[in-house]
Parts: sequence; structure tokens; C-alpha cells
Amino acid sequence: MNRQVEAFMAPPAAASAGQAAGKPLPHESAALHVSGEATYTDDITELQGTLHCALGMSQKAHARVLEMNLDAVRAAPGVVAVLTAADIPGENNCGPVLHDDPLLVDGLVQYIGQPLFAVVADSHDAARRAARLAQVQYEELPAILTPQEAKARNAALLPPMRMRRGDADAALQRAPHRLAGTFECNGQEQFYLEGQISYAVPKEADGVHVWCSTQHPSEMQALVAHALGWHSHQVLVECRRMGGGFGGKESQSALPACVAALCATRLRRPVKLRLDRDDDFMITGKRHGFYYEYDLGFDDEGRIVGVRLDMTLRCGFSADLSEAVATRAVCHFDNAYFVPDIDVSAMCGKTNTQSNTAFRGFGGPQGALMMEVLMDMIARQLGRDPLDVRRANFYGVGERNITPYGQMVVDNVLHPLLAELEASSDYRERREAVRAYNRASPVLRKGLALTPVKFGISFNVPAFNQAGALVHVYRDGSVLVNHGGTEMGQGLNTKVAQMVAAELGLDLHQVRATATDTSKIANTSATAASTGSDLNGKAGQDAARRIRRRLAKFAAERWGGTPDAVVFADGMVRAGDVSKPFAEVVDAAYWSQVQLWSEGFYATPGIRWDKATMSGKPFYYYAYGAAVSEVVVDTLTGEWKLLRADLLHDVGQSINPAIDLGQIEGGFVQGMGWLTTEELCWNEQGRLTTHAPSTYKIPAVSDCPADFRVKLFRNLNVKDTVHRSKAVGEPPLLLGFSVYNAIRDAVASVGGYRSEPRLNAPATPEAILAAVTQLRTQAQA
Ligand code: MTE
Ligand code: MOS
Repeated sequence: MNRQVEAFMAPPAAASAGQAAGKPLPHESAALHVSGEATYTDDITELQGTLHCALGMSQKAHARVLEMNLDAVRAAPGVVAVLTAADIPGENNCGPVLHDDPLLVDGLVQYIGQPLFAVVADSHDAARRAARLAQVQYEELPAILTPQEAKARNAALLPPMRMRRGDADAALQRAPHRLAGTFECNGQEQFYLEGQISYAVPKEADGVHVWCSTQHPSEMQALVAHALGWHSHQVLVECRRMGGGFGGKESQSALPACVAALCATRLRRPVKLRLDRDDDFMITGKRHGFYYEYDLGFDDEGRIVGVRLDMTLRCGFSADLSEAVATRAVCHFDNAYFVPDIDVSAMCGKTNTQSNTAFRGFGGPQGALMMEVLMDMIARQLGRDPLDVRRANFYGVGERNITPYGQMVVDNVLHPLLAELEASSDYRERREAVRAYNRASPVLRKGLALTPVKFGISFNVPAFNQAGALVHVYRDGSVLVNHGGTEMGQGLNTKVAQMVAAELGLDLHQVRATATDTSKIANTSATAASTGSDLNGKAGQDAARRIRRRLAKFAAERWGGTPDAVVFADGMVRAGDVSKPFAEVVDAAYWSQVQLWSEGFYATPGIRWDKATMSGKPFYYYAYGAAVSEVVVDTLTGEWKLLRADLLHDVGQSINPAIDLGQIEGGFVQGMGWLTTEELCWNEQGRLTTHAPSTYKIPAVSDCPADFRVKLFRNLNVKDTVHRSKAVGEPPLLLGFSVYNAIRDAVASVGGYRSEPRLNAPATPEAILAAVTQLRTQAQA
């Protein structure tokens, strides 16, 4: 693989002491990951007497449970107990926002896979085998299985959402050109390599310790307490790391956490609940699929005059985080473009399927995808280059820079970023080359697409934008940092440790990050919305800074100079004319009764959001990027290959360029998977038929382009973020749009670029072949 990376990707050894920030250092657990020694929840040494839990699942999409005969389950080998909704002492609910999400079914089943009961046995296998022996009598009810049906039947989980500016109808009427139609994108399974899991151990005096693979330990703590009818201080939730979360463990780690805690406290034995991959697919929610109805008006240059867009989300049976997902979708439809007159609405459609949840981008991708598909449609209709059309619509600098929700875009780098990518990717030459290739190639067709992204960073609930950290400096000069964020592979612990090390003038190896633990930092937010390092990095820095100030005061008093003049660098502390190793200064400070540990706190300033008018300033800043993808499609089979991808992404001033490049590559490939190979299929009964890697295809190494050029855009965050960096976790997922649009471009060539391919997302080979066939038939007619 020709993997071109920035010249400043020097080997880690180049990071000199005290300069931990901004260096491409390896992930703090890299060696553990590759050697298999990293401890995930299932790797924690099991205590003697540990039992294993499995869930019995509903076999109907919508039905009343008339009778549940669990005798055979109870009698199965190895079974210790079977628990149902009636055994829950507290609240039978794990809904993060509304109370509409039962842990175990109580009378009404709402999708195939919904947990009915929990079996506890002496082995994982015995529990799973027993769970299948239940005899359940159902009275079937009509089920809603698609967002279109939900829309037609007005089945909404939440009040409708609408964001308006200007007069979209009038704008559409005076627009010289119109595009109206429907579009669909399917959902996406998070497919974290480590499935959902919790291990609960009862503690003395009504306490429980839950090791949980979760992005949101504080919420797991609260929900476990609710389910048990306890207080939060009785529950300790701990997570050292996840084998991926991707949003799927923001709210939906609650089921295993609560059920494992329920069984453990009830039986007074340690209980582990690890969902098998198929069960995880059947039970837990995914990215929301969307159904769109659009009407767009534009002028001869391709400039958008007005839009009316109606989106329906496949939410599944309960609200979960759907309201926030829909809000983010509405706020990201504009993507990189100024839309003067706009009317966007979103409906949270209730379907009898898994309750959909967060997934990298959190609705943002679904909003922006529609816009990026429309941009290429405009270009094809006008016969103009799609980059020119996009440029005509970009947010301006100082003008045309107010979003439909009223936030001013003050950090726009779209123009220089696109200029750089256009040149470095040879965009124009390759566009010509692709057209020339296609003229001479009847079967294989190439396609090229360039898509930008502008992604808003922050939770739109202002309170969520806060974080805490706890830094301990031990007498030997070693440092331990704990913060409220969670590590899921994205490198958060590395970045926070880098900020702490930098603050104290230490090398990264002198700082160690510990497991996230609700008994150390209270009331944390989910590690989500890409805000992990922005929030926890600042909190860690704050804690380290407090310790440094105390040490500086002490050193100045002892060795001379003013506290402000004390320098912490290269593992040394310099005060006046004296320079001493950090550890020596720390030990001396201890003997002088100086506090060597501190908490730190950070809250993002200035976030406002008015739900009623859908306006305010929901984002602290925006992250930008763009990608150019080139594909070749076999028009006889629908198979395709990504030949080359050029990515240029803005992470502000990177805290760790190696980790950031990994996030950009991973996000891009995951976005590509969503829109191409990953397909969720539910049959007429509402059963998810793609619930294992055999039928659900995530991208593999072989799907990465042979020619993959990924670069960081040189930029400084205009906002006072940690190290002037920008969040990187989610925005690059939207770069994957370029692959999907490139496929559409290749397919459109079959019809001479005159008509739009009928191709929803994902563009699987079957869907591509159908779109090609339709264009060929149309051409013959
Ligand atoms: N990267 C890895 N390796 N694994 C993950 O689960 N989750 C993504 C992103 N990158 C994820 C990942 C999602 S959905 C989010 S919101 C961010 O990481 C969260 O971490 P951050 O805020 O620290 O970037
Ligand atoms: Mo990410 S979807 O915000 O966990």
C-alpha cells in the first residue's frame, strides 16, 4: 500500500522530554494491543464462583406475551437462576432520555430480539443453550418495519422537528432549476470488535462493582442504581478500555450493565453478561437509516436558491438518543454550504426493530449525505464540474456565513483546504482522464468524486460539555492521570497523558493513564460527539497546571526567583540558578507539606441551543476536511474497487499526528463501509437476517485503496481548545461519501451522465447492477 504521510511523522524517539504535545507518539496501549495483552472486560481474571448470563429473545416483531413458560430453561443443565421483569427491584427501564426502554419485556414485545428474560448458568455456553428453550405464546400485533411505513402511519416516537429560514416555497418557485425526489440510506451496525459486555461483582453493604465496556460510565452507574432501586454511591462502574464503541456503547451498554448487576446482587455471586456477536446484532441498536423527500431549487451556476427537505428516521421501538441524532442530522444537512432559504423537517419514525442509537457522526452523516448527493445531481443536470458547483455554494468568509440555525461560521477553511486538495490530488486532470477512459471502455467504468465536510463540535446540551480529571504526582516523580473520558481505541488516554506530561515538562512515559472509574470522577459525560480530548484534555491540563503552580511556588521559595520564572522542561525544574530533576523537586515539596495531587475541571463556554426554534450556537467550532475518491465499476457484475483516495483533514494543531491520521483513515473506511458493503436486511417478519460477519460485510484491509494519501491540513483552532487542536473522532467518517459519490459517477456514465442513477445507499454490487441495468434499459427505449 502506498501510504503517503506527512514528513513531520518522525519516529517517536524524536519526542524529547517535556515536549510530549504535538508529537506522533504511539498509542499508550499499542504494544498491549498488538501483543494481545491489553485487558478488555472479558480478560479480567474471573473471581471464584463467577456465573454467566444469557438473554432469551423475542421471536415476534410486535406482540403481546400471553404466556412465557420457562420450565425447560430452569431445568437445563448448569442453570442457576432465571430472572424476568418481575425480579427487577427498581425501575425496569434503561432509556437514556425517555422511560420507554424496558430491560426485560413486561407483556409487550416490540421487536425480534428484544430480551424477555435472563438465564444465569455456570458457563456462558450453558446459559446460551438454556435461553433457547423458552416456550412463549404470543398474540401478534401489526408491525411497522420501515421508515416509509412509519411516516405513512404517522408513527412517531417524538414530536416532529422543523428548522426554517426565509421562505423556502417562494425560493423554490423562483428558482430557474428544480430537483425533487426521494432518497434512502440504510443504517449501520457499529461492529465494535469487542461486543457488549459487563461483569458485575456484589460488594459489602449493598454495593456493586460493574466492569463495563461503555462510553458512558456515569450513566451506567445511574441506570444500574435505578434498576436496583439504589443510590449512585452504591454502584461503581469501571472501564479500562473498549474494543471499540463507535457510539454503540454510549447508551446501549446499559442492558448488559443493568442485567449483570441485577443478577449479581440478587444471587450474591459475580455475574458476567457477554453478548455473543449474533445476539448483539439482534438486540442492540445501530445507526439510523433515513428516508428523504427533497425539493431543491438552484440557479444556472448551480447555486442553491432554496430547499425543502423532509427526513424520516428509522428509530426502532424506543426513543433512545434519537432526538439528538435527528437534531444533529437537521443541523448538518447544510454541510459546507450556505443555503439561503430552507425548510428542513425530521420525524423520529417508530419501527418494530432494534432501537437505533449513536454511531460515529450521530445523525450528522445522514444529514450531510443527502446534500452531497444533491450537489452531484446539480452538477450533472447543469453539465458543470461538481467541484465548481460546490465552490459556488461554500460558506463564505465574512458573508454568506450564517447557518440555518443562526450560528456564524467564523473558522471557515473550506476555500484554502479545497484548493490544496484540488492541486495535490490532480483533480482536474483525473476528471478528464476518467471521462476519456469511460469513452473507450464499454464494461469497466471509472468514477471520481470530491466531497467536503464541515462538522460541528460540541454537545448541543450545554451541560454535557464539561469534564473532570484527577492527577496524582507520586514522590518518585511518576504521574498517574485519571479523567472522565473513556478509551475505545481512539487514543484519548494518550492525548490526555500527553497534555499532562507537557504541562509538567515530562516525557510521556512518566505519565500513566488509569481506568475510567465513577468513584474517581463523578457525573461525567459520555465520551461522544468527538469531544473526548477537547474536554478531558483540558481538564487534565487544568489539574496538572494546579500542581505545577504549587511546585513553582515551592521551588521559587526554596531556590530563588519568582514562581512565574520557574521552568518545567526535559524532566527538570529550573528555579533561579538551580536546576533539579522533577522527582527530586517533588520529593522535597512533599517534605514541605505541598499537595501533590489535584483535580481539574473544564467546561466549554458559550454553547446555546433553543429546541423550540431550533436555533442558537450549538457548536464551539467546526472541523473541516475533504476527500477525492476514484473507483472502477464492473458494469456487468456491479462489483467495484476503490483505486485511490486523497484525504485532507483539519484537526487544528494536532496533539498527536499519528493518532489523528489513524482516526482519519479509520473514519473514512468506516464511512465507505456504511455506504457500500454494509447492508442491514430485515425480512417480512421483521427479523434481521444480516446478523453476523458472514452476511454483514464490513471493510477489510483489502478494501482499502492501494493508493491512499492522507494528510493533515495545517491549521490552528481559532478557539482556545487544548493545544489549539480540533476533535477528530467523527468528522472523517463523512469523507467516505466521496467513495459512494464516485460509484454514482461511474454508474451515471452508463447513461452518458444525462440521467441520475437510481441508487440508494448502500451501493452494494446488486444495487449498482440494478442501477446500471435501469440506465441501459432507459437508453435503449
Ligand atoms: N476510534 C476507535 N478506534 N474506536 C472507536 O470506538 N469511536 C468514534 C471515534 N473514534 C471510536 C473511534 C466515536 S463515535 C467518537 S464519538 C469518538 O471516537 C470518541 O472519542 P473522542 O471524543 O475522544 O474522539
Ligand atoms: Mo460517537 S457516535 O458520538 O459515540
